[in-house]
Formats: sequence, C-alpha cells, structure tokens
Amino acid sequence: MSPVIEVRDLRKTYGAGDTAVHALRGLDLTVEKGEYLAIMGASGSGKSTLLNILGCLDVASSGQYLLDGIDTGEFDEEQLSLLRNRKIGFVFQSFNLVPRTTALANVELPLVYAGVRRAQRRERALAALDLVGLKDRVHHRPNELSGGQQQRVAIARALVTSPAIVLADEPTGNLDTESSRDVLGILDRLNASGRTVVLITHEDEVAAHAMRTVRVVDGRVAGVLV
Ligand SMILES: Nc1ncnc2c1ncn2[C@@H]1O[C@H](COP(=O)(O)OP(=O)(O)O)[C@@H](O)[C@H]1O
Ligand SMILES: [Mg+2]
Repeated sequence: MSPVIEVRDLRKTYGAGDTAVHALRGLDLTVEKGEYLAIMGASGSGKSTLLNILGCLDVASSGQYLLDGIDTGEFDEEQLSLLRNRKIGFVFQSFNLVPRTTALANVELPLVYAGVRRAQRRERALAALDLVGLKDRVHHRPNELSGGQQQRVAIARALVTSPAIVLADEPTGNLDTESSRDVLGILDRLNASGRTVVLITHEDEVAAHAMRTVRVVDGRVAGVLV
C-alpha cells in the first residue's frame, strides 16, 4: 500500500498575539490509498481545521502535507484549487448546496470548473445522481428536498469528478437515522469501489463504518483505535 495523505508536524494558528488560537499543534497522520478512516475528537479539537487543510480548502501555518506524494506547500492558491478539483470530493455537515438552482446544476458545478463540455457534464451529473438514488429528483432545488436528499446531492457533487479521495466533515450530523444510514451506505460503496474516505464524526456507530479510527486531542493525533 502507498500513502495518499502524509501529514507531518502540521500546525495551524488562527489570528495572532494574545488572541491566537492554536488549532493544530504538530499533527502527524498517514492515510493509505483505499483506506476508510474515521476522525473523532471533542468539539474544538481541530478536526475541521485538519480536514479543510487535507481538502486544500485552507493551508497550514507550518508542517508538511503530501497529497499523492506531491508537497502541497509548494503550491499557490490556483494550483491548490486545481489539485482539489482533480483529486478531492468534499462533503459538509451543512450540505453547502447552491440554493436557487437544481440538484442537477449543483452536481454539474465542479465539472464547469474542470472545463468539461455541457453534454458530458449533464451525462456525468445524471449518472452521479443516479448513483445516490436521486434520479427522479434532478430538477428539484435544495429547498424542495429533504435533508437526507440534499446530502445525497452533495455527495453526488463530491463524486462527479471521480476524486480519489472523499472527505466528509460530520456528513450525518444534521440527518435523521434513516438518512444517515443512506449516506453511510453510499460512502461505504464509494470506499468499496477503491476511493479513500476520511470522515469526521463523534458517533461510534458512524466510526464503525471505517477501517481505522484516530482521535484528535488538542490539535494532535492521540490514540489510534482499530
Ligand atoms: N476561521 C477560524 N478563525 C479563528 N479560529 C478558528 C477558526 N476555525 C476554527 N477556529 C478555532 O480553532 C479550534 C479548532 O476548531 P475546529 O477545527 O473547527 O474544531 P472541531 O472541528 O474539532 O470542532 C477551535 O478553538 C476553533 O474555535
Ligand atoms: Mg468541526
């Protein structure tokens, strides 16, 4: 196996001086290709900060992050966003869909950024929506969908670019039990088809879907639970 994510002595400080918050304090983490990793830890321990850096949505203050062997520290913002578009699918607790546009248009969006032509965009977005069981909801807007359906649209959007890595920050945090089960089932299938999945949760039942769980305490990886 080869690592797809390698993080060494990662530090992230928000703000400066007296009000500085040290969110990550020398965090080390390796994730193998095809792994399904759960990240647990108390609120405020730095989990989202870590995932945002892994997803190239934010950069560390210091330390090293190798993504697929590439040192992301040498990249500028534009290169990082290209890397993100090509390799990473991100799923948020609050879905983060574009409100006044259809499920289909939401899922097509990453392909617009990737420069995929309209006909192919449509075809791939429809296939992704089909994969999450929303074939009959493609023309609905987010406010016409349940929370679980909105999260499935968000997952379709995350996987439409065929990313090697799917990062999910408490994806079931706003969902009822049945919708949570749907979403976790989809993540399980994505992992079974070879994608690396990294998921943040504070529920043991959710973490049980992963192969490995790490616990973040005060901005560092504490114990490794199998
Ligand atoms: N954009 C930000 N600006 C300032 N402080 C932040 C910001 N994001 C997170 N923090 C702080 O960093 C710490 C870690 O936050 P976070 O990574 O969101 O933790 P978790 O996801 O584990 O709850 C917290 O103390 C939080 O208040
Ligand atoms: Mg968080």
